Amino acid sequence: MNKLSLIAVGIVVLAACAPKTAEVISPVEKPATVVTSEFPSTEIAEGSKLYAENCGKCHALKTVTDFSSEQWHKIVPNMSALAKIDATKENKILQYVLWKSIR
Ligand code: HEC
Repeated sequence: MNKLSLIAVGIVVLAACAPKTAEVISPVEKPATVVTSEFPSTEIAEGSKLYAENCGKCHALKTVTDFSSEQWHKIVPNMSALAKIDATKENKILQYVLWKSIR
């Protein structure tokens, strides 16, 4: 192989190994930011909203501080199943009630 074709091979190899175009991280279902100084995180702020929207349909909204965090760990999965709330939302609601119940 002459010098020129070696260089050509080199270029092809380099091109093949070049990193693919940076993966596009799409903002999946990112709701309008609801974080306010009231809540320590977006998750919890969203959890608060989800709680208000989903947890007062069959009974009045329960007062979060009436239940301990141990109780909430059981209540949220049970109620989420009843309310047909997906795991992502369930987790946000749980984070919210746990945060709120220890306050
Ligand atoms: C499909 C109807 C339904 C939905 C939606 C629902 N619940 Fe309930 N929930 C019930 C019923 C029925 C009871 C038992 C009767 C009662 O305590 O009012 C109950 C009871 C509770 C209790 C009292 C538990 C206890 O041990 O005293 C809490 C707390 C509660 N729900 C929280 C929630 C939360 C949080 C959500 C939202 C994720 C939710 N519920 C959504 C039907 C529902």
